[in-house]
Parts: sequence; C-alpha cells; structure tokens
Amino acid sequence: MKYVIKNGSVVFKDGVKKCDILVEDGRIARIAEDIQSDGDVLNAEGLHVFPGLIDMHVHLREPGFEGKEDIESGSKAAVAGGFTQVCCMPNTNPVNDNAVVTTYIKYRAEQVGLCKVHPIGSITKGEKGEELAEIGKMAAAGAVAISDDGRSVMDSKIMRLAMEYASGFNLRCLAHCEDENLADGGVVNEGLNSTITGLKGSIRAAEDIMIAREIALSESLGIPVHICHVSTYSGVELIRSAKARGVKVTAESCPHYFCLTDDVVTSFDTYTKVNPPIREERDRLAVIEGLKDGTLDCIVTDHAPHSKKDKQVEYSLAAFGISGIETSFALSYTKLVKECGFTLSQLARLMSAAPAAILGLDGGTVEEGGAADITIADLAAKYVIDGEKFISKGKNTPFNGREVYGKIAYTIVDGEIKYAAR
Ligand code: DOR
Ligand code: ZN
Repeated sequence: MKYVIKNGSVVFKDGVKKCDILVEDGRIARIAEDIQSDGDVLNAEGLHVFPGLIDMHVHLREPGFEGKEDIESGSKAAVAGGFTQVCCMPNTNPVNDNAVVTTYIKYRAEQVGLCKVHPIGSITKGEKGEELAEIGKMAAAGAVAISDDGRSVMDSKIMRLAMEYASGFNLRCLAHCEDENLADGGVVNEGLNSTITGLKGSIRAAEDIMIAREIALSESLGIPVHICHVSTYSGVELIRSAKARGVKVTAESCPHYFCLTDDVVTSFDTYTKVNPPIREERDRLAVIEGLKDGTLDCIVTDHAPHSKKDKQVEYSLAAFGISGIETSFALSYTKLVKECGFTLSQLARLMSAAPAAILGLDGGTVEEGGAADITIADLAAKYVIDGEKFISKGKNTPFNGREVYGKIAYTIVDGEIKYAAR
C-alpha cells in the first residue's frame, strides 16, 4: 500500500502548512512540499489534514445494550465523525470489570476493523463502588484506563486503593465526579431553569466536591488522575489551581458543555438530559477558557447513544446522555475556532495529541514515521445537524437544526481509508 495525500493544508503542532504526505505500509513515510508519485493520489486540495482524532470517552454499549449501540455501529459512527481511535467506557452488561469482557471488546472491534477501540475497565466490580475490579488482569488484556463512569466511586478509601493499584499498571483513573447523595436524583442543573421547569436540580457542588476529592487524593498520593466531563466554572477553577501547584491532574470537557446552556431544558426535550447536566452561561464560558489555557486538556464526546424508548418518556425518567460522536468535530471547530479564536493546532491538540498523551496511546500528531492515522476535513463545508441521519443507533442529539462548519471528508486508520464522505 502506497499513496500520496496531495495539496492538503496539514495541521501540525505549531501551525498549518500546505504539504504532501506519503503513506506507505500504514505509516507516514514522508512529509514534504511536493512529493511526486507514480502511484495513487488522494487529492486533498482545499481540505485540512489533521492527526487522526481520538475520543477517550465513548459508550459503545456492547455487550448488553446493543439496542442503543454496538461495537460495529459505534465504530462506523466514530469514523464518520473523524475518529481513528476511541476508548469505550465499561458500563456495559456485564460491566467490563474483568479480562473476559475486555478481551471480547478488543476482539469484536478488530473483527469490525474500522477505528481502533481501546477498552476502559471498571474501577469496582459491577461499578458498584464496593470492591476493586480485576484491574491487573484487565490491564494485561488491553484496558487503557479504569473508570466507573456513569457513577462516582463514593467511598474515598476505595478510590485511594484504586489509584494506588492502577498506578502500578500504569493505568490512570478516569473520574466521573458526582456526589450521589448531594446530587440526590437531580436531572438538570440546579438554578433558575430547574425552578422554572419544576425539574429536580443537581447543584454544582455535587460535581465540585468530587473533583476536589480526586485532586486531594492525587496530590496526597502523587498519582495522576483524570477528571471526566467537567461542566462547572468552579470545577474548572479547582483544576486550574491544582495544576498551578503541580498536581498531576488532567481533565476533559464535551461540546455540549461549551455550546449550550441550560436554557435548552425549558423545552423539556429529553435529548438535553445528560450527566453532568448542561449548566449556565458562566460555566459555558469557563469551559471555553479552560480549554484555551490548558486547564482542560482535551475534548471528548461522552458519546452516550440511547434508543428512542429510553428518551421518549417524561424528562425525569429519561436516560442521561447525548449521541455526540458524529457532531463533535464540527461543533468544536465552529464554536472554538470560528467563534472563539482557537487555532487549528489547538483544536488538533485538544482532539488528538492530548488524549494520546494522557493515555499513552500511539498517534496524536502528523509526523514522519508515525502511524498513518489521519482525519481530513472540509472546513468550509456548512451543514445543518440532523440526528435522524446519524449512523449511530443513538439519534439523541440536542443539536438538531444547528448550522455548523466542518465536514469530515476522509478518516484514515493505519493508512486505510475507513470513511469517505459521499
Ligand atoms: O449522560 C451520561 N450518560 N453521563 C454518564 O456519565 C453516563 C452516560 C451513559 O452511559 O449513558
Ligand atoms: Zn460520566
């Protein structure tokens, strides 16, 4: 296999440059201004060439919830969204709390053969928060991190043990931060809009207290921790000050936290229901500032596909989650680059280099010798989001009708074109 990606604007760490890329045997063999080829050419004139996007927080639902998504449909959706690598959360059925499930996920993903799928093992057995899962065995089977995502590990001693134990296998804990007692079944942000709608609110402090606890554990133990889907301005500030004094904390946020405010819940549209909840303008702006100054390391989707029957019920009963993998790139590009002045290199760091660095994955940059994991996008292409057209089984997006820029043209994994726009 040998071809040249010609005339694209390549997004490097430190800027954008028009270059050709020679792909040979799944790797980037050469990058230069003009590469002559006697073989195949992929014409990228007018397009931007990014390092393959990496989403370190998705839910693929298999095994157990294949009605919502499965590894095949999720992988197809991922490459359509420009993702070459995804890390899937363990809240499946059975939970990915042992090497058998970890091995199964990897096996299925390899059979499907689209994007690279890295399983995340659970922290505790059954995500029940009571006893540690088989962390070492899952690490040996290929888990790249551990998390009880969907829930917090409420017992601080168990979280301490998890961090200590996992660090021995070089795995990071990815912390879903929510004090369950304080959140007390809240379904939206606690504030004006929870009062107006009568929907039960969840106070920011429920998230912040757990962010502060994870920082305290990380700081005391000297072990890295990663904070999932940060949604509060106060959480961003906790992470900012922790980083300033050298705590090894990393963090992520999602497009719905920097594109939306909780005004959307007054529609009672259950597609706006997500955990943590969409918050207020102050929070949205703080998330953008955090992504800009590096307080928040990366963008993830928290792709949480649900079936219609999980969502077409009253708000308080609906499942939490947004199907986000097919809209993340366009929302991020449109909001952050076009509207907020981020550079394309910053966007590439947030969506590729940073997650690779946090989890120690290959990839994340376009460079000679690296794997040819490449995402090519047409940044001028404008379209209107329509969840019904998603490849994912989960059509649950609060972004229906929103106009965005940035269409994925090609997604290339190890040199093979896994997605090409029609
Ligand atoms: O909204 C959410 N949905 N947040 C989570 O933490 C879990 C996820 C899911 O699994 O549906
Ligand atoms: Zn979560």
